Amino acid sequence: MLITAGPTFEPIDTVRGITNTSSGKMGYAVARAARDAGASVTLVSGPTALAAPRGLERIDVSSALQMHDAVMARVAKADVFIGVAAVADYRPKEAKPHKLKKGTGTVTLELQPNPDILATVAARKRPPFCVGFAAETENLEAYAAAKRKRKKVPLLAANLAQHAFGADDNQLILFDDQGRHELPRAPKIVLARQLVAHIAKLAFKKR
Ligand code: PMT
Repeated sequence: MLITAGPTFEPIDTVRGITNTSSGKMGYAVARAARDAGASVTLVSGPTALAAPRGLERIDVSSALQMHDAVMARVAKADVFIGVAAVADYRPKEAKPHKLKKGTGTVTLELQPNPDILATVAARKRPPFCVGFAAETENLEAYAAAKRKRKKVPLLAANLAQHAFGADDNQLILFDDQGRHELPRAPKIVLARQLVAHIAKLAFKKR
């Protein structure tokens, strides 16, 4: 299983960048749960303060482009891909090769879109079983169901951004072809085990 976790960091100059408040806890919990279920796990991790879990391979990356490349280099061997990372949708068009000096006027930062890792994996000729996550601040169910369709993934786990980012507990709603499945509030590792069991049912039933 190939799993992404944590935030990405998009450099503005040599010391500054754009990132978000993902701690990596949810993605690392999913990686642990998959390992405990017997999977061979590769965890592609953005910058977090978390220690590498034992018994799995962790690849450290920083930017969305690096995460994209690390995933693409390994995806052909994966049966399941789970995108838990909060990947930056945009990056500065130009990362300055020196520290920007303070001026007096306003500064305009031009951003360009990053590749969508999950959608790219799902669009492969022979894709692994793809699982997306969606963090929304409002209209959780409608946005998440639409995101599952747009990214063309069989399973998507939705969570409320204001409860999920950085927290030890979470609450998930899983969307698949059968409909919605609520996983009530619990520590992330408990939810991760339930998610992995759900994935196993869907991904391996026809093989
Ligand atoms: O790390 P924690 O503090 O524990 O927080 C966990 C979490 C809130 C980060 C996690 O549970 C979560 O919801 N992750 C997805 C965050 C999100 O908002 O994703 P998104 O809506 O931007 O993207 C949807 C899906 O596409 C995700 O699976 C994402 O990994 C993937 N994606 C997005 C953009 C991009 N360029 N490439 C991607 O692969």
